Amino acid sequence: MNHKITYFKLLGLTAGLVFSLFSCTKKETESPGNQGEIADKAMVVSAREEASKIGLEIIQRGGNAFDAMMATEMALAVTYPFAGNLGGGGFMVYRMADGTVGSIDYREKAPSAAYRDMYLDENGEIIPELSTKGAMASGVPGTIAGIFEAQSKFGKLTPAEILQPVIDLAERGFVVSSRQAERLLKLRETFIEVNGPETFFGKEIKGGDTLKIPVLAATLRRIAANGRDEFYKGETAKILAAHMQSKGGIITESDLADYEAVWRDPIVFPYKDLKIISMAPPSSGGVTIAQIFGMIEPLSIGQYPFHSPEHIQLLVEAERRAYADRNFFLGDPDFVDIPVAELTAGEYLKSRMESFTMEKATKSEDIAAGEIAFAESMETTHYSIVDAEGNAISVTTTLNGAYGSKLFVDELGFFMNNEMDDFSSKAGVPNMFGLIGAEANSIAAGKRMLSSMTPTIVEKDGKLWMVVGTPGGSTIITSVVQTILNVYEFNMGMQEAVEAPRFHHQWLPDLVSFEPNSFDSVLISNLKSKGYQIMENNNPIIGKVDAILVLPSGKLEGGADPRGDDKAVGY
Ligand code: DON
Repeated sequence: MNHKITYFKLLGLTAGLVFSLFSCTKKETESPGNQGEIADKAMVVSAREEASKIGLEIIQRGGNAFDAMMATEMALAVTYPFAGNLGGGGFMVYRMADGTVGSIDYREKAPSAAYRDMYLDENGEIIPELSTKGAMASGVPGTIAGIFEAQSKFGKLTPAEILQPVIDLAERGFVVSSRQAERLLKLRETFIEVNGPETFFGKEIKGGDTLKIPVLAATLRRIAANGRDEFYKGETAKILAAHMQSKGGIITESDLADYEAVWRDPIVFPYKDLKIISMAPPSSGGVTIAQIFGMIEPLSIGQYPFHSPEHIQLLVEAERRAYADRNFFLGDPDFVDIPVAELTAGEYLKSRMESFTMEKATKSEDIAAGEIAFAESMETTHYSIVDAEGNAISVTTTLNGAYGSKLFVDELGFFMNNEMDDFSSKAGVPNMFGLIGAEANSIAAGKRMLSSMTPTIVEKDGKLWMVVGTPGGSTIITSVVQTILNVYEFNMGMQEAVEAPRFHHQWLPDLVSFEPNSFDSVLISNLKSKGYQIMENNNPIIGKVDAILVLPSGKLEGGADPRGDDKAVGY
């Protein structure tokens, strides 16, 4: 494509390690446009430099991607409490060097005392903030179960070896970025309101300060010594359950003891000569991107210039139809039957696009979920890792909103999620991401709430090609699709594809949102004249993609999103 515009210009562990990391990392000019870090063997891209470096250090010490997952995830819990967590959950998709694929679901679950109308008052109206702030907003956390399950099945080192550098980091402290300080300041009053005046994040924290979290170091030390059961059945579980109940929550010791991460078959589908491997329900990510790619494939999106009206219309119209299905059909597969094969079948997707025309926008009110014949019926973080053996993992993990429920367990050193808001509290009423849910995603005891997290791995010609994912609530799905298309159809390199401005549509509300100040006014007028309703301002959440591309030479190019403090490191 000739239309290749890049709009954005853009603690060490030991001195020896830092030197070796950077001396082995050099620039390569294989892909045009802004280039990311290039590495020969292995790479970690995450929301914080310290977390990427700890993950890479584990690989350099002989660990693999699953060992690095445990290290990176916990280092994010220390340095990026905005989304990195012990009190949340996530999903991991893997592809081993031999081509075997799989995924693990460590999504939070509704506590056993949860019930369908728990966020409604006596008039059936939603009680403001009950599903977003404080102890009632939290699901039973899955993160520790997920990282231990993955590491014990595939890892090579011991949890104690892996967690030691993270414990050291929590004790030694990390430097707070100005972005972090700004967010902490904005929420300081809320932290105090939810947790009391003595709470850890109630203090004034400035950019450049070194923040130590010794109580989190102590929690991690117990987990390193006693394993995953420390969190779910040990002293940590007792403290956590007692804390939640003292704050008016319903999570009990037996809810924690009952939690299990679940291995699930990923959603695997072709797009031209790519094979895309992504997360299955209870994440909507895999099914929804399979629908979007399936709808656009016969219409050759790559024939249109990048960010031309046709490129945008085609994607928006596919998204409109896919999100209508998402919101109706998808939920926890352990509770509802999901017609995955039917929803992703080529003929069905073709029929969904029959009403599409380049002349004018389809109205979302004219699109309902498709008719399927089947038996029955804001914060997250992503990291991508390729290890020295060629294994790849793609992990998205979250507390849901920024710092989750804002409930900080001061005795343990971490925030609790507000993932209960991802359920449909009341049919037809949007959640914090404007998503409208249906019966399939209603609340029930022990059920997992529907997610949009889309950790994804892509193969080309049978070989590993890309590892990709992002935070961003409902915009996760559309950001992942755009990043893959930017490289595959619009010939960008990895960093360039991550930096390119993004747009989003999710059926309802019937709006197309554009990253502010990044799209041409002529383009916007063209789309408006065809009946698209555009939201250009006030749209801060549009993903923060962290990805890795295998270049034709076999080297790895990292794409670290400049919308955050994200960092790719490799060797
Ligand atoms: O699982 C989900 O879809 C949401 N809880 C993700 C939240 C998120 O990405 C917030 N980040 N901006």
